[in-house]
Amino acid sequence: MGHLGRNVRAGLMDAFREAIRTGRLAPGTRLPSSRVLATDLGLGRNTVVRVYSELISEGWLTGLHGSGTQVSQRAAELVGERPRPRTPGTRPEPVHDLRAGRPDLSSFPRDEWIRAVKRTVSTAPFDAFGYTDPRGRSELRDALARYLARARGLRARADNVIVCSGAAEGLRLVAAALATAGVMTVAVEEFGLQTQRQALVKAGIDAVPIPVDAEGVDLSRLDRAPCPGAVLLTPSHQFPLGVALRPDRRAGIVDWARRRGTLIVEDDYDGEFRYDRSPVGALQGLDHDHVIYLGTASKSLAPGLRLGWLVLPDHLVGAIAAEKGDTEETVGFVNQLAMTDFIESGAYDRHIRAMRSQYSRRRRQLVETISQHSPTARVVGMSAGLHVVLEQSGRTGAELVRRAAREQLTIEPLDIFRHPGSTSDRDGVVIGFAAPSPSSWSGALDALVRTLR
Ligand SMILES: Cc1ncc(COP(=O)(O)O)c(C=O)c1O
Repeated sequence: MGHLGRNVRAGLMDAFREAIRTGRLAPGTRLPSSRVLATDLGLGRNTVVRVYSELISEGWLTGLHGSGTQVSQRAAELVGERPRPRTPGTRPEPVHDLRAGRPDLSSFPRDEWIRAVKRTVSTAPFDAFGYTDPRGRSELRDALARYLARARGLRARADNVIVCSGAAEGLRLVAAALATAGVMTVAVEEFGLQTQRQALVKAGIDAVPIPVDAEGVDLSRLDRAPCPGAVLLTPSHQFPLGVALRPDRRAGIVDWARRRGTLIVEDDYDGEFRYDRSPVGALQGLDHDHVIYLGTASKSLAPGLRLGWLVLPDHLVGAIAAEKGDTEETVGFVNQLAMTDFIESGAYDRHIRAMRSQYSRRRRQLVETISQHSPTARVVGMSAGLHVVLEQSGRTGAELVRRAAREQLTIEPLDIFRHPGSTSDRDGVVIGFAAPSPSSWSGALDALVRTLR
């Protein structure tokens, strides 16, 4: 093993000793198998095997045949003191994270991504290294147009695609272009991302709420209000309430946009993840002249890539490209070309399939565990995506968040997604079940069960 490998091993051993010393890993705690931990940390399995065996020989861990590796009961003696009890009144550090919208980062397909980067950087034309087209690399726009037509039912050509730095930049560009075109208001779902409402407001646009019921946005409310310049929707899986827009409402909203000459901005943030059936196609497939499609790699791969895409009606491509500037300023060519290779080699489909089965299994475990242990709690939302809404009779969302904190679990109240102008009395918490690594999932679920007790 080289110098680098030794450093990694030493670092991991220190991290274990420190966790045991501070009591974060209590005596008797079972550790993940070397294979699982290696995958979670993106390390070679041999590295983890050696770390475990050295810590066993130092007495920190015990390796019992059949029961895996555990923190040794003698560990406290090695430290020379018992793990420090918590001072009453202080809040323990969160250990588990079930916030919405975060994919499992430990499952990022590092090896395949590295191969894609290597292949594309070796073969990229010189011009890729220079200042490039603000719409993004043509190779990626082409690959996305084909992928989105196949996987999400879009009607798209590469000319309609603009690459951006996540859906967040996509929406900022759309908001700026709408404002330039004189749009003063955009209707938004009464529950949604505050950052999206802020992006509109920053562009000088009012974000007005429309109610959402069990079948998506209530269209009758759109016709009653003064006509907005556009409506921002999550039709395939409402964020965060988790419902799908009813089929006749899908058709209805497209009709409405045509009649009123307005636009629909479709945020298809987690459209690939449907577990009870194959995903319903994007709304854009119904009308590519009135729908602006917003996509992202943040759920399907990782938010840190900052990769997103817009698919635009022909008449908007020029205006949105102009908002981006004369050259590409936000998305580097390495990520763009790696993503192109990743899609075209089939690695993207494979990764999505693997994550779909992992997330689907987790969602099922979540629903079953809660129905077994917490009869007063209810999981709301369809079998899709990376999150659910959880309601518990007799407890508010804020109470659940506080109880969770005592179990070292971070969750978010539904309230933080509510538009200040909403009149809905819905309450609860939003649970993102995708974020934990495979080895920490069951611990997070246990902490949730204790929260609901
Ligand atoms: C509703 C919704 N849209 C879009 C996104 C993705 O944003 P971005 O692509 O900027 O990471 C998220 C991520 O949290 C989201 O929850």
